[in-house]
Amino acid sequence: MQSAQGSETPLNGRTRDDASRLQDVIDRIYEKYRNVEDGTVATYIPELGKANPDHFGICLATAGGRVFRAGDCDKEFTIQSMCKPFAFQMALEQCGVEEVVKRVGVEPSGDAFNSIELDPKTSRPFNPMINAGAIAVASLIKKDPVETGIQAFVDRMSEAAGRQLRIDHDVMRSETLTGNRNRAIAYLMRNFEIIDEYLHESLQQYFAQCSVLVTCEDMAMMAATVANMGRNPLTNKQVFDFQYLKYMLTVMFTCGLYDYAGGWAYEVGLPAKSGVAGGIFGVVNRQLGISVYSPKLDAQGNSVRGILACKELARHLGLHAFEFTNVGSSFMQWLL
Ligand code: DON
Repeated sequence: MQSAQGSETPLNGRTRDDASRLQDVIDRIYEKYRNVEDGTVATYIPELGKANPDHFGICLATAGGRVFRAGDCDKEFTIQSMCKPFAFQMALEQCGVEEVVKRVGVEPSGDAFNSIELDPKTSRPFNPMINAGAIAVASLIKKDPVETGIQAFVDRMSEAAGRQLRIDHDVMRSETLTGNRNRAIAYLMRNFEIIDEYLHESLQQYFAQCSVLVTCEDMAMMAATVANMGRNPLTNKQVFDFQYLKYMLTVMFTCGLYDYAGGWAYEVGLPAKSGVAGGIFGVVNRQLGISVYSPKLDAQGNSVRGILACKELARHLGLHAFEFTNVGSSFMQWLL
């Protein structure tokens, strides 16, 4: 029998050669979709409308810290709703599961990210991935003064990415000026005592979280940190308390793509989260972080090229959580 390191050793139907071809796969997917022009750049936050619609990046980071990338993986854009799972994780760590679920549920809403609605039975937001839930979570992790809580969030995202991140103050201002829908949601939650009286501070925390600047490679590394049980693969720092990551990944899986969450789970089959600046990140537990970036969005607010690229990556690499040939995604362990 060949050794486990042998170049032709079959592993769940795959060989070590597949690993060396991974870069080719990413390059091919990048070339295939780089000219797709469908979708529109988000403009409801005016500053987001300045994004270059041609930008397109695909980045994979393994739980061991190897990076494979194609296209615009160093262009900065705002994290937007991709902040939501991380904020949820921080709330779980700071307040514990019981306190958090008093303020936010874990049911997919099937509605748009910014819908003004609460669960009619409990008055809680349906889940932490929609704006209502994310504002409730922001309310839990904010600090006094508010700058302290914002900095704590930026620092944690920086630890996950493995480099110091910062806020795009123009986007934050733009979002603050136009965020009346989020204000309406916050007032509704205040009415039901889901959030405390420091409503403006909760919104400030939320707007700042959405305005953290990241690159496609940062997001892949942050996803790899989650995949690596909360430890950044390059710095080796334990960034997240891994006992809560299963909750974070679950809400990503069921609610991360809003009203496309079911279709995403069906077709891609990974816990993931999208943002209106055009980013999507996904996690292959214990194996891999995936990130795509392209600013043109579909009707559900998800990156058009990003969705196409993720579908093909998942299909090609057998990443779907219930992929029959994907025995614990052990193929990916060859890349560590
Ligand atoms: O609340 C908002 O409008 C934004 N800051 C975040 C929205 C977002 O990214 C939705 N995701 N696709």
